[in-house]
Amino acid sequence: MCSDKCCVVGTVITAVLVFLVGLSVFIIAPIIFMSSVGIQKSLVFPANKIGPINHLITDDYRITGVRNMYIDVPNDGNTENVTLGLWQILPQEIVSDKMKDDEYNFDGVLSNEKHKILLYLHDNRSDRTKFIKLYKILREFFHIFAIDYRGYGDSTGSNLTETNMVNDMKCIFKWIQERSKSKIFVWGHSLGAGIATHLIAELKKEHINAIGLVLEAPFTSVIDVMKTHPVVKFYSIIPWRQATILNPIKNNDMNFDSKSYIKDVDCPIMILHAEDDEIIPFKMATELYDTAINKRNSTYQGNVTFHLYPPEGKGHMLLYSEPDLSEQVRLFIKQCLEFSNKNQ
Ligand SMILES: *[C@@H]1O[C@H](CO)[C@@H](O)[C@H](O)[C@H]1NC(C)=O
Ligand SMILES: *[C@@H]1O[C@H](CO)[C@@H](O)[C@H](O)[C@H]1NC(C)=O
Ligand SMILES: *[C@@H]1O[C@H](CO)[C@@H](O)[C@H](O)[C@H]1NC(C)=O
Ligand SMILES: *[C@@H]1O[C@H](CO)[C@@H](O)[C@H](O)[C@H]1NC(C)=O
Ligand SMILES: *[C@@H]1O[C@H](CO)[C@@H](O)[C@H](O)[C@H]1NC(C)=O
Repeated sequence: MCSDKCCVVGTVITAVLVFLVGLSVFIIAPIIFMSSVGIQKSLVFPANKIGPINHLITDDYRITGVRNMYIDVPNDGNTENVTLGLWQILPQEIVSDKMKDDEYNFDGVLSNEKHKILLYLHDNRSDRTKFIKLYKILREFFHIFAIDYRGYGDSTGSNLTETNMVNDMKCIFKWIQERSKSKIFVWGHSLGAGIATHLIAELKKEHINAIGLVLEAPFTSVIDVMKTHPVVKFYSIIPWRQATILNPIKNNDMNFDSKSYIKDVDCPIMILHAEDDEIIPFKMATELYDTAINKRNSTYQGNVTFHLYPPEGKGHMLLYSEPDLSEQVRLFIKQCLEFSNKNQ
């Protein structure tokens, strides 16, 4: 008798528990995710925080000929005031061991159009101080501006959306253009590739051209990246995954749909990706490449070059260690200049 009763109670408790777990996992969690823009943003912009107030150049960074500076983004009236932190990294050819950082004429270099400019946009987990090794390779070719997005590093601003971040970069692009006649290249890594691609499509509307676009470890869209995540994959068993987990990313303005913006890129493109990238599968770079090849007209929009590096430990963050990178950049610049002389 008693043991029968226990058995029934046990079964009921188990059933209730299973029901509650199922309810939490399949109903409550997706609904919380859907309703919390904060949780969504912490996934897409994990390093968004007000960081150290001043990234002054110190010996810690082991790089010289660099100016730390801040640019205000004009306030469009309805949102917050934003000040972006950036580094101006002089081209190697004018950097000398004998000079101190404050002895360079940084503004003068900016107006010397012989130096090609590179706008460098980093990934979603870093700030501008984290890519010294890459800057050292790229400054052999470029005069670099490395920017921190709003909310990143010591840039101010908290309203992180694709629209706002692309608009911020548009302001920086124009800030450079107002001071320099140099040709401007844009280089985006990971999230930065999404911002860069959208930026160039946006500039096109104003008939402004970059000379070349480099996409380092790019993705097709944030929703596509999420779909590769095991947890999000697991949720494919519920029919409301699209509505509760995927659509909010788009509705809340953080999808960075490069696969569609790349069609409006009217300059040569170079895509770099490693086969062992653990954050963004290289298949996405392949897909982006195919889209760029098939949906653009290379005759007047420029060629697309794709370098897929074999799985040798470069992953998502160490593409600068590719021994051929310098040569690939050199050839790309040459191609961009030829294209620009002919078309722009
Ligand atoms: C955040 O920026 C968006 C534009 O992307 C704007 O529509 C919205 O009003 C802003 N929100 C706040 C709280 O300022
Ligand atoms: C933005 O800056 C302007 C000019 O400095 C100032 O008048 C305004 O109050 C600031 N707005 C906010 C929201 O801080
Ligand atoms: C941003 O960072 C997160 C966490 O590190 C990563 O999983 C995600 O794929 C990144 N997203 C994008 C679009 O780069
Ligand atoms: C690309 O554009 C050129 C010049 O406008 C045109 O002659 C050519 O047919 C186009 N190619 C394709 C594949 O559409
Ligand atoms: C673009 O690619 C075509 C076909 O491979 C090639 O003939 C052409 O020279 C390339 N254009 C530039 C500017 O490199």
